[in-house]
This record gives sequence, structure tokens and C-alpha cells, in this order.
Amino acid sequence: APTPDPAITEIQDWNRYLGDGVDRRPYGVPSKFEKDVIRRDVSWLTASPESSVNFTPLHALDGIITPSGVCFERHHGGIAEIDPAQHRLMIHGLVDTPLVFTMDDIKRMPRINKIYFLECAANSGMEWRGAQLNGCQFTHGMIHNVMYTGVTLKTLLEQAGVKSNAKWLLLEGADSAGMDRSLPLEKALDDVMIAYAMNGEALRPENGYPLRAVIPGWQGNLWVKWLRRIEVGDMPWQTREETSKYTDLMPDGRARKYTFVMDAKSVITSPSPQAPLKHKGRNVLTGIAWSGRGTVKRVDVSMDGGRNWVEARIDGPVLNKSIVRFYVDFDWNGEELMLQSRAIDETGYVQPTKAELRKIRGVNSVYHNNGIQTWLVHPDGVTENVEIA
Ligand code: MTE
Repeated sequence: APTPDPAITEIQDWNRYLGDGVDRRPYGVPSKFEKDVIRRDVSWLTASPESSVNFTPLHALDGIITPSGVCFERHHGGIAEIDPAQHRLMIHGLVDTPLVFTMDDIKRMPRINKIYFLECAANSGMEWRGAQLNGCQFTHGMIHNVMYTGVTLKTLLEQAGVKSNAKWLLLEGADSAGMDRSLPLEKALDDVMIAYAMNGEALRPENGYPLRAVIPGWQGNLWVKWLRRIEVGDMPWQTREETSKYTDLMPDGRARKYTFVMDAKSVITSPSPQAPLKHKGRNVLTGIAWSGRGTVKRVDVSMDGGRNWVEARIDGPVLNKSIVRFYVDFDWNGEELMLQSRAIDETGYVQPTKAELRKIRGVNSVYHNNGIQTWLVHPDGVTENVEIA
């Protein structure tokens, strides 16, 4: 007779005793058995936690929405804890009427809801010269995908009346870094949002409470948090974040500026170094793909380092400038695997290999690394970050 399974034959505490009553957790938290699903930083990466970054635990998530509590954080001067009653958004410069909005003013304007990914330009930046960090949380975790509620920037600009010679905006945060970036007016009038809610609740302080800019498809640095000021001008401001930082140093020593769009990219989130294979037989491979140029059309997966490819099954909403979720259901007999995924977007753009990327961009860059990631699965299931020459 088979050995009885104690998980069935033994009565467990949760089956024997009353559980907590309602209101024990007025704001819910995940199960204690999920305590490892947290944002993590890389201690040697930055000098201080106030000007630093932590990473979304992509290996442990599913679907397309990033839960608010694990959206990666990137701050240049720590988290501003703003009293919304004291918060103002000012619009001035090349406008007919300079305006100041309170949070209540903004919440009285027509609302929209949109799901967009935010990817930091530095995502995968540590991998430019070779495989380095062991886990998709660290190689690809500077991304989140959230539903925003707010107003279009167009609505606000129309109220102020933009002058005919206006071409650029400056967005400025109310944090101690006063982080600011120049934004082309054309983009501002196209799809930029000023958001006060994420995933149905107020923005979290980490992500810009009470107000942030949402710049769909463009690098995260432009998504100014704790937004307090929009100046309208006729040329970019050449701020620190668009000159000494967030530029792409090319092999000839020159740097590309204003490289806003995040090109198509994907990563297999499981199996991956933090989510090794544990079972021979049927398994689910899953990952995410995204493109700053529109929708993801197809995702291919290779199990032999890019020699052969199969089309992955995309499941869940396929939205403009949002993450999509893909799956490959497969059998594993314990052989070594070299897993790769590549995204193809609606423009026909195909995610490049790292070698292709380096041929054009060299190895001096930090930003905009959208090269194909390889995970090596060993026969014991242990998975590591490798690169194929
Ligand atoms: N806005 C302000 N005011 N201050 C900041 O430090 N960091 C920027 C951007 N907006 C930043 C900011 C950077 S570099 C990124 S990648 C995104 O916010 C990160 O957004 P998140 O913290 O919601 O993930």
C-alpha cells in the first residue's frame, strides 16, 4: 500500500482552530508563506539607499499587473512624503494663463484609466559587458506594469493655453532631488497622463504620491514623480538627467541624447536563477514581453540557445505599451537547456541578440540594453545567467 500522505492524514492547525476574525488586517498583506516575494536591492550598486534602486521580483509574479507593493523603486533623493492638501501643480512659461492646480482641482477633471509599463533606461544596464547578476529580478526587474488613473496632460495644457512657439516642457518633482526632465510637446499632447492612482488606489509614496507623470513607452526617468511644476518652453533644458546621465555613450566617444523610446524586449521569468526547474516531466515556462512602440505581436522561445524557436502562447490582455504574459508548456527530461525569448512588436521590430546590439552600440553604454537574455538550466535544474558568444 502507498505511504499515507501526512498532509492529508494529519489534522493541521488551520483545520483545527478558528482563524483570525475580520479586521485583523484592515489593509491586507500577502500570506506569510510568500514572504520572499519582495523588492530587493543590490548593495554594491549605489552609495546610499536614498539615491538608489530596488528591483521587482519578476520571477515570482504572473499575469500582467505588477502588485503596487512590489513595483521597483528608483529615487534620486529618497521618498518624498507629501501631504496632498499641501501639494500644488504649477503650469507656466510659454502659456496664455499660468495656472496652479490643487489635487482636488485635478480630480474634478475628466478621468482616464490606462495600463502601461514603466522601464528604467538602466534596466539590464549591468549586463552590457557580459552576464553578471543571477536572477531576472536583478537583470530585468527595473520594470513594472500598472493601471493608472488620472487626466491627460493635454487637458491641463489646454486650460493654460500653450503659445504657438512652444516645443518642449520641463517636468519637475517636489522631492529633495527636485528631479527634472525635458519632454517634447508633441509627446505631451499625444498620450502623456498625469496620474494620482495606480491599480485602483492612490499612488504609493514610493511611486510618486500624490501625483506623477506617465510617459507611455518612454524611459522611466521621464516619469517624474511627486510632480509639482511644468514649464513650457521652446527648447530642451539640458538638465543633469539628460546630459551627464541617461545618455548613451557610443564606441567613438560621442553620446546619444534624448533616446526616449524603450525598444521591444522580453525575459523568461520562470525558469530563471531564482525559480529553478524542480520537476521532470510537464513544466510551465513563462515570461513577459513589452515594446515602447506599441503592442507586442509575437514572442518566440528557444530552448537550445537560439538555434530553434517556437512561438510562445500569449495569454491575457495585449495592450498598447503594456507588458504581455507568455507561456510555453513543455516536457523536461533533465537535459541541459539554454533558454531564450525574443519579442517582436507591431512595427515588425525583432528584439536583437546582445552581440547584434554591441556591434552598433559598443560596450560603453549603461542604458537601453534590450538584448536577448540566456538562462542555462543544468541537469539538476539549477539555472544561471550566461551569455552565448
Ligand atoms: N521623479 C522624481 N521626482 N525623482 C526621482 O528620483 N526617478 C526617476 C523617475 N521619476 C525619479 C523620478 C527614475 S530614474 C525612474 S526609473 C522612475 O521614476 C522610477 O519610478 P518608480 O520608482 O515608480 O519605479
